[in-house]
Amino acid sequence: MTAKSAESPGHSLGDVTISELRVDARDTPRGIDSKAPEFSWQLNSSRTGVLQTGWQVQVRREGSTDVLWDSGENDGEHPFGHSYSGSLLRSSTTYCWRVRIRDEGASWSEWSSEGIFETGIMDASEWAGEWVTAQDDTAGALYLRGSASLPEKIDRARLYVSSLGWHRLFVNGVDHTGPALVPRFTPFGKEIEYQMYDVTESLRPGENIVAIAVGDGRYRGRLGFFDRRNTFGHTLAAMAQLVVQSEDRAFTFVSDASWAGGSGRITETDPKHGERADLRVAEEDWSSASNTPHRLSPVRVLPAPPAQLIAEQVERVTDVARFRPRVWRSPKGAQLVDLGQNIAGIVRLRVAGPAGRTVRMTFSEVLDPDGELDVEWILTNPKKPWQQRDEVVLDGSEQWWQPWFTIHGFRYVQIDGLDGDLSADDVEGIALSTDVETAGSFAASDERLGQLWQNVLWSTRSNFVDTATDCPTRERSGWTGDIQVFAPTATGVVDSQAFLRRYLRSVSIEQRPNGNIPPWIPSERTGDASFITHLVSEVLGNSVGWGDVAVLTPWDLYRYYGDTATLERQYRSMQLWVRRLARAARRRGASRWLARRFGKHEQYILDSGFHWGEWLRPGEGFALLDGTLHGAALATAYFERSSRTLSAVARILGRDHDRIRYLELADRVRAAWRAAFVHDGGGRIGEDKQDDYVRALAFGLLTEDERTRAADRLEVLIRDADTHLATGFLSTPLLLSALRENGRADLAMQLLLQTTTPSWLGQVERGATTIWETWDGGYEEAGRARASHNHYAFGTVAGWLREEVAGIAPASPGYRHIHIEPLITEHLDWVEASVRTPYGEVRSRWEGSQDSGRIDVVIPAGTTAEIVTPDGSVILAGSGRLAVTWPASSTG
Ligand code: BGC
Repeated sequence: MTAKSAESPGHSLGDVTISELRVDARDTPRGIDSKAPEFSWQLNSSRTGVLQTGWQVQVRREGSTDVLWDSGENDGEHPFGHSYSGSLLRSSTTYCWRVRIRDEGASWSEWSSEGIFETGIMDASEWAGEWVTAQDDTAGALYLRGSASLPEKIDRARLYVSSLGWHRLFVNGVDHTGPALVPRFTPFGKEIEYQMYDVTESLRPGENIVAIAVGDGRYRGRLGFFDRRNTFGHTLAAMAQLVVQSEDRAFTFVSDASWAGGSGRITETDPKHGERADLRVAEEDWSSASNTPHRLSPVRVLPAPPAQLIAEQVERVTDVARFRPRVWRSPKGAQLVDLGQNIAGIVRLRVAGPAGRTVRMTFSEVLDPDGELDVEWILTNPKKPWQQRDEVVLDGSEQWWQPWFTIHGFRYVQIDGLDGDLSADDVEGIALSTDVETAGSFAASDERLGQLWQNVLWSTRSNFVDTATDCPTRERSGWTGDIQVFAPTATGVVDSQAFLRRYLRSVSIEQRPNGNIPPWIPSERTGDASFITHLVSEVLGNSVGWGDVAVLTPWDLYRYYGDTATLERQYRSMQLWVRRLARAARRRGASRWLARRFGKHEQYILDSGFHWGEWLRPGEGFALLDGTLHGAALATAYFERSSRTLSAVARILGRDHDRIRYLELADRVRAAWRAAFVHDGGGRIGEDKQDDYVRALAFGLLTEDERTRAADRLEVLIRDADTHLATGFLSTPLLLSALRENGRADLAMQLLLQTTTPSWLGQVERGATTIWETWDGGYEEAGRARASHNHYAFGTVAGWLREEVAGIAPASPGYRHIHIEPLITEHLDWVEASVRTPYGEVRSRWEGSQDSGRIDVVIPAGTTAEIVTPDGSVILAGSGRLAVTWPASSTG
């Protein structure tokens, strides 16, 4: 290997500009309650080799020129993670901030243009709004309204709303919430979000109508596999607080006993099973008319819920794409609609027909082999012959209708109850997801790989809604294992930092004092969960690979975003989990009782408790007991992994005592694991399945010699399976890089390009537009689909496409130093990809072969990169555009 530096031409001063000013990993967040918001930015320059060596931030209150906080001139190369530490931030106030940086030549840039953030309610004592509901609990949505009488001129108005159930806010008939599905799913028993709305433009002098509709949402609606309702309560409610500034005066109006409430147009409102609305019931009389409609009566005031009200920390859900579908009649004559894309979302439909007629939409991800809508592919409730359905009762007029408080996982819709044939102009598919930008792209000479990438993007969009979910159809629960494996991939698919941070906060809130992590987060345990639910959660909360989300996902945020604040915040949770693993290992489990004794290693072998195991290996189905009965090698490997990761975290946080303690623990577990599970010099590991070797190689549990034998054995197992993978959720993300790292890049490519089941491209070739939960999609049984068709877990391959096929990986946390080493393979002519890093966008495009070719890269300002070519050259580069060719690497 040779190393050389690309020349950095001399630079002129003042050629660095600063953009992408963000606060708490969000663009211009409004209504936040963090006491020390974190600032970040990006550098831009036409010059190459730009680095930041220092920074300075200033904050002022909007409307004042005084600097409220000046960080002073600091040394530092990161354009992120710098927190405000000035005087206490006031509630409901807009702040402006700017930054300048010092570059590698010690000259200061110009000040950036200003970024903005706005605070919400900073202190719980400031809440004055009362929680209100209808006199009698409504079966459908709850409709509330109140009024506020305002003076002539309004400068600024903010309305803070929280609710038990998803809400929609209208001010004088203007919808301020749209399809946002707020408040987000948090552990409602402990924390409930409030939303801040800028309603300045919707208010007018005199009387104003504030109307809030509340649907079941995650609060009262069906949750999880068993569709249990009323987990957090039976009664929908809302609370509102309007803060109006007018010249020098401020007014506050709150929800109270003067409000009216009752039922209305939406008569059923379930987040999973769908919505039912009766258009014969008016809506405007509730949302904007000056007289209160008769169906509403004075509200009931409730005690405030015991949970803490928190500001939003993530962007809201929005319509990320719209589809004009194909419409046709099925062989049996049903009116069918195909969006051409599997999504999580809703349908907007033009309805017409006699008053009282019901129009029904039934949603599914798949058709049956006869071309009819298949409603059985995912049923969990034997009493219910369908899973997701919306119904609307017509009022005799023609109009567009869409539900407010539900979301479906689907590609196909059957529409019943309309006269005549539907046209494509009468129906629109609306994909809903958290409003974050895509964070990467991938394309290759083999178009199927581009489609695979798109499928991963859509599974991400579909499962990054009001929290991270397994699928948008069956449970829609925040399964910990799924996000644990997928988080590294997600960071290069959509902007995930704030979203994952929010999830992790819920993890630490829900973690049990004994360290257990409920298997899905938010769990039902902060609500009125049954004894059985608590018990199941406690038992399943032991599982490695799932509970390890507590340690491995914060670490991923550090790797991809340089996020030390999350390491700090989650540290206690990580410790609790690792201690739990250590305790569980000291307990003697099945394998030690039955057969084996491991002497001094005994206490480090984890073979007790419930574990999901590798999960969904091809052909094994939902093998519920496999992880518990045969999972000691797997569980112990995760014990090692989390202990070692925790030691690394302690090092970064400067906790030296912990660093040593957890390192010693990890070393002991490693020694125990090796003694118990490595045989034949690495030629036989654990249960002798592909994943045993993958984990051993990827987690660095073997010596050099053992690695060779383990990789040989892995190859044999793959060849014995006719060049197919046999891994499940946990090891699939590790498989292809383990092969490449151990001299089998071509075998990795063969698996990537395999088209018979189990394979990724097999799904693509069968027309998949998202990633399936199981490798075969269930189609092997008489051609009928089974299980979810929209799970991101097996989509981790997109991370490999990005990091190894395109070759863009962080060489240091947050991509401060970037490793570019594409896998140049005869299977592809070219590959191009981009990743949005905390420093800006990295691009890489390669074409050619092992013998000759070129890589074009764009390296963002503030970073450095190493580019490795197939002939072994390593080119060190600063920011800017660069082309590298081989043989005999040359730069240009
Ligand atoms: C979910 C998974 C989850 C699993 C636990 C399934 O029902 O859909 O994705 O991780 O249960 O093994």
